[in-house]
Amino acid sequence: MTAPFSPPAPITVNVALGERAYDIAIGRGLTATLGERIAALRPGARTAIVTDESVAHHWLPQAEAALAAAGIAATPVVVGDGEASKSYAVLQQVCEALIAAKIERTDLVVALGGGVVGDLAGFAAAIVRRGIDVVQVPTSLLAQVDSSVGGKTGINSPHGKNLVGAFHQPALVVADTAVLDTLSPRQFRAGYAEVAKYGVLGDEAFFAWLEANHADIFAGGPAREHAVATSCRAKAAIVARDERESGERALLNLGHTFGHALEAATGFSDRLFHGEGVAIGTVLAAELSAELGMIAPDDAARVARHLAAVGLPTRMADIAGFRQEGLADADALMALMAQDKKVKRGRLTFILLAAIGRAVISPDVEPAVVRDFLAGKLAGAPR
Ligand code: GLY
Repeated sequence: MTAPFSPPAPITVNVALGERAYDIAIGRGLTATLGERIAALRPGARTAIVTDESVAHHWLPQAEAALAAAGIAATPVVVGDGEASKSYAVLQQVCEALIAAKIERTDLVVALGGGVVGDLAGFAAAIVRRGIDVVQVPTSLLAQVDSSVGGKTGINSPHGKNLVGAFHQPALVVADTAVLDTLSPRQFRAGYAEVAKYGVLGDEAFFAWLEANHADIFAGGPAREHAVATSCRAKAAIVARDERESGERALLNLGHTFGHALEAATGFSDRLFHGEGVAIGTVLAAELSAELGMIAPDDAARVARHLAAVGLPTRMADIAGFRQEGLADADALMALMAQDKKVKRGRLTFILLAAIGRAVISPDVEPAVVRDFLAGKLAGAPR
């Protein structure tokens, strides 16, 4: 007789932050275990589930059922889809909804969604009643490998992204890799850019493994759990050493200085998803490293080849409307980078590569060098 199929045991990654340490549980079908996990974490706690309309449609009933089965009360708080919800107005709505639901300090906020929901719900939890614990239940690949882990929460200001926020570590992260099956291929690919980032910045063997196994990750095979767990382990180790980004945590921003400028130039719109900006930014960081003689040109080409192999954009020219809308302008991109949080006293901090698998923080890159590098890339781009 054939044994009934049972999914592999979940993988647990611990984020070692002393009294604020927490586990990340990773596996297929873990949404069904949410009730028992929360009951074990905080017996008797009530919950509010903050989510957005799309995720509510796909996953809220299952999350509510799992909590109900464990006897846990849950009040849903549903916000609109998209980046627009990371605003003062929606933050106020969520805070008021948590207070109206009588969520107390000993209760829990459950953030069920992608990066926007995790950042918004995490920040609301950080400030309502001066701090309520949050359980992150990330439903996008990007949130599972990056934004749900490490405690960065916040909303956007009219002056820029993520400028208002707090560090608020979750009490638990539950990453159900089956929920990724409902992502669009484009969203999944965008999240994959952050997975590849961990290989490029700190783990050449993982990068080589990704080169060989990316198809299984996209298809939802066991490689997916391994990729999420390896990414979370890498992030957990860095966050445990530098929670507040006074040093090493900045390595996680590989590809983000260029990427944020490209996102800003395209109005933070659906024309360029965050992960797509990170993919192009990672290639630019590798190419700038090669131009500065830090890595061989072949290494930069290898990074670009892998990201292109999974269908990610790797060149500025891959962005729709790139030439028509003034984007192909090195000075304009420099001006956008100058507004980045990574600017310190007029100098740009870049994360560059000393090798594939060894990123370095370069706090003193000459703006003129970067400008000429970008101008060269733009001049060489297809028209
Ligand atoms: N996403 C970068 C960080 O969490 O530090």
